[in-house]
Amino acid sequence: MAPAPERRVAALTGAGISAESGIATFRGSGGLWENHPVEEVATPGGFARDPLLVWRFYDARRRQAASCSPNAGHRALARLEGALGGRFTLATQNVDGLHLLAGSRRVLELHGSLWRVRCTRCGYAGEERTVPLPTLSPRCACGALLRPDIVWFGEALPTEVFEAAAEAAESCDLFLVVGTSGVVEPAASLARLAARSGAKVWEVNPEATPLTPFCDRSVRSGAGAVLDELVDEILAR
Ligand code: APR
Repeated sequence: MAPAPERRVAALTGAGISAESGIATFRGSGGLWENHPVEEVATPGGFARDPLLVWRFYDARRRQAASCSPNAGHRALARLEGALGGRFTLATQNVDGLHLLAGSRRVLELHGSLWRVRCTRCGYAGEERTVPLPTLSPRCACGALLRPDIVWFGEALPTEVFEAAAEAAESCDLFLVVGTSGVVEPAASLARLAARSGAKVWEVNPEATPLTPFCDRSVRSGAGAVLDELVDEILAR
């Protein structure tokens, strides 16, 4: 049965949706930040101080992500996009690229991507998928250092990407919050914006989060296990 024509759905995903693909989350036990002081590997200051350390950290994340595949949760959201087309908007905090690999075509990568680099001087930005990196201090054709095209702590999100996500949060009638601890802004604000704008907000997370109070429904489960059923439910309405 085709979904009601006015149906507009948006989703915000976090590291939890990739957990079942084997990619470590950030704040759970054994999370990524436990082994690496954020200040050293995910800030502009850390990169200025020791670009080699930062590139070693990101090369390891690229190698890990390259060995992981999308799970049923990623595929369910790709199916939802297939059914709703432009009436579905996916914004992710994840940089692993698994949504794109699962078949999602329009992904707002709020925090950038492990698979893109950009120049620290000339503005060049482009894909770099070599694993492992041929050199741990990759340089641009202009000679300057390349950096991961990732939004580090203290940096602004790409304006047009965040504005598109905010517009979707404001205009949707259903907002899915999947696999995020909801503690990093401004990404987490999208769920509150959706709630304020009158959308139903459904959370998929084994644990409660600071966003739970804004949710009409909390599915206390892993994303891989339940997203397929939720997508069926959404499309049957
Ligand atoms: N399915 C759904 N949710 C899960 C699963 C799962 N299988 N496993 C864990 N979770 C939940 C955890 O309960 C937690 O609430 O996923 C969330 C992961 O939270 P974080 O590790 O904080 O990741 P995230 O919310 O994406 O972090 C946001 O912080 O460090 C920065 O830039 C980084 O994008 C990241 C941002």
